[in-house]
Amino acid sequence: MSLPPAAALLSWYDRHARRLPFRVAEGRADPYRVWLSEVMLQQTTVAAVGPRFARFLDRFPDVGALAAAPEAAVMEEWAGLGYYARARNLHAAARAVAARGGFPDTVEGLRALPGIGPYTAAAIAAIAFAVPVVAMDGNVERVLARLTAETRPLPGVKPRLAEAAQGFCADPAMRARPGDFAQALFDLGATLCTPRSPACALCPWREHCAGWTQGIAAGLPVKTPKRARPLRHGAHFLLTDATGAVLLRRRPPSGLLGGMLEIPGAPWRESAWAPAEALAHAPLPGLRWQRLPGVARHGFTHFELSMILFAATVPRLAPPAGMEARPLAAAAAALPSVMRKLLALHESGADGDCVTNDREV
Ligand code: ADE
Repeated sequence: MSLPPAAALLSWYDRHARRLPFRVAEGRADPYRVWLSEVMLQQTTVAAVGPRFARFLDRFPDVGALAAAPEAAVMEEWAGLGYYARARNLHAAARAVAARGGFPDTVEGLRALPGIGPYTAAAIAAIAFAVPVVAMDGNVERVLARLTAETRPLPGVKPRLAEAAQGFCADPAMRARPGDFAQALFDLGATLCTPRSPACALCPWREHCAGWTQGIAAGLPVKTPKRARPLRHGAHFLLTDATGAVLLRRRPPSGLLGGMLEIPGAPWRESAWAPAEALAHAPLPGLRWQRLPGVARHGFTHFELSMILFAATVPRLAPPAGMEARPLAAAAAALPSVMRKLLALHESGADGDCVTNDREV
């Protein structure tokens, strides 16, 4: 099928481009900034990324600074953004880029870096190096499914949509401005060609859109239903001392939340924890723990987590091996969102039942 003219989208973009903190108005974008913003924007909203992007750049202004930083500092700066493998890969890729003396300027070269998949490689290549390639994310897939009136379901139809999208690369208007074209597609998907109630009346491509012509645009893309996420259970222990410090533990370097700090706890498992059983996993024996009422819940990609929380206080924390004490007031900034939910449960302040490691009271 024939694709709509890139020029119509680009002239719409010239009038309606969103002003975003990570965008440059004039000239070629800096690959470090493009890369950082694209990695942050995976799974995190544009609104949440804005201030975090600026803060990250203050701390690590260029790829050399990021490469030279200890991994724990990078993980901490990432705290709250989620999907922590992104931060670990960012750091590893910064080291690779610093070692080779600069960013690769091709899709293939970029893809060889840790954590850079087809989407990110295409976005950096187009935006920072003007390579004519279409970066496919969920928004762009939706736009393409509508333009081509694709009724076969995602995710199976992804490769076809990607193939159709690369047809834009033959359009001279796109080849003249690949970075703007990529970002224009993102903006179209985010502002007009939205998942529900798309604003087709305002769309520069409406007349060329098979989904609109056939009156089916709003119902596209079709998606294969997802399986429900299983529920897992955790039990965590918030141990504070009279100086206002809290006991934290660093998670193993790889796997879920790898390298991040956490509030110590029992393993996450399919069956719920009975308090007496959970206490075998308390970080210090012999304390009087208070089970706080309620639970904290957090959604991960592959499971939902329900956590109960125990709290105790000691006069002065002496962290056991592998743990550290931090001021409670500053802990949230260094903890992932799942752990911040436990802090919120703690702050909600209700009293609970008391138990100890060796006996229930
Ligand atoms: N989503 C992902 N990358 C983006 C970008 N560069 N501009 C706007 N939205 C985006």
